[in-house]
Amino acid sequence: MGMQITPSILNADFSRLGEEVARIPSADWVHVDVMDNHFVPNLTFGPTMVEALARSTDIPLDAHLMIEDPDRHAPAYVEAGCASVTFHVEAAKAPVRLAREIRAQGGRASMALKPATPIEPYEDMLAELDMLLIMTVEPGFGGQKFLDLCLPKIRRARAMLDRHGIETWLQVDGGVSLETIDRCAEAGADVFVAGSAVYSADDPDAMVRALKATAEQ
Ligand code: DX5
Ligand code: ZN
Repeated sequence: MGMQITPSILNADFSRLGEEVARIPSADWVHVDVMDNHFVPNLTFGPTMVEALARSTDIPLDAHLMIEDPDRHAPAYVEAGCASVTFHVEAAKAPVRLAREIRAQGGRASMALKPATPIEPYEDMLAELDMLLIMTVEPGFGGQKFLDLCLPKIRRARAMLDRHGIETWLQVDGGVSLETIDRCAEAGADVFVAGSAVYSADDPDAMVRALKATAEQ
């Protein structure tokens, strides 16, 4: 699997999400940011909206749950048609059990870390995950500045995955653009979320292709 680009629709036009997703046919995934106004100070949408979006596109959905109690709510997003579901470790009560449950439902299980959350305590559970998301902004809003302080953690995560020989994907989310994606790729990320960079571009699909080309350099 090469470098994958997963545009976030957080900064797209919510009144016509189907059309917004149709503008990015080159995307490998569509990243859907679910926020509950508790885990993060912002509110987006829930499983009903996600299910409608899943029906409107052939591109697989990558749900990023920025919510409390993902142990209870995550399974609904696999049922809604998301091929990948990411929960935050800071919110999960039983992350190993939850990852296994998502996989048992047929989804790809992914776990996210906020910028100040260390990777080291989770080394022994990385094999339970199909993807690890290292946030490169504080979650909650699109359009924030990329935090360079997260790069050493991406490097350490890549080294851990390689050391254990496991194929868990390493995703970055927050402030990813043509200016920052090469730093993420060099540090070892292979899945890149980009929200404002894609949806503020005149040609979003050309931006998706440019991001992928830059990551692959
Ligand atoms: C932020 C979300 C991101 C957001 C990224 O909490 O998780 O997915 O949409 O937006 P940009 O790429 O603008 O930082
Ligand atoms: Zn996200």
